[in-house]
Amino acid sequence: MDHADSQPALTEAVALGADHAGYHLKEHLKDILQGFNLRISDLGTDSPDASDYPEYAHAVAREVAQGRVARGVLVCGTGIGMAMAANRHRGVRAAVCYSEEQATYSRSHNNANVLCLAARMTDTETAEKILKSFLNTPFDGGRHERRIAQLEL
Ligand code: RB5
Repeated sequence: MDHADSQPALTEAVALGADHAGYHLKEHLKDILQGFNLRISDLGTDSPDASDYPEYAHAVAREVAQGRVARGVLVCGTGIGMAMAANRHRGVRAAVCYSEEQATYSRSHNNANVLCLAARMTDTETAEKILKSFLNTPFDGGRHERRIAQLEL
């Protein structure tokens, strides 16, 4: 199944966050998400003015860790700082994805619950495909259940 071309089946809430580098892509993806059957919670930033990515990563990761949203989406220049911060929260599995295939595996094998996008390295069309794959792809479970359990310290 080509997950990028299908409509996300996820009916729960998604929290979004970005720093200044990710602001424009976040706004674009928010428009896309608003066309789906999803409750969107935009936790900032609200402008392209310089900001610090950990603030938004922690805000989104907190929502995911506390079960208030099913998934989080974070956007910064590389996705890396966002993932570093988000993965400090227990139960959060944040994946930096530059390709649709990575997004698919992040879900099917790693049960990723936070997607980190790189606004400076990923074009808009690819980012949309990554996002849809992240929202649509189910976790495979089975042997992967045991492995993700081992992630927690
Ligand atoms: C901001 O310049 C940049 O460092 C940030 O967006 C991100 O790429 C950090 O990982």
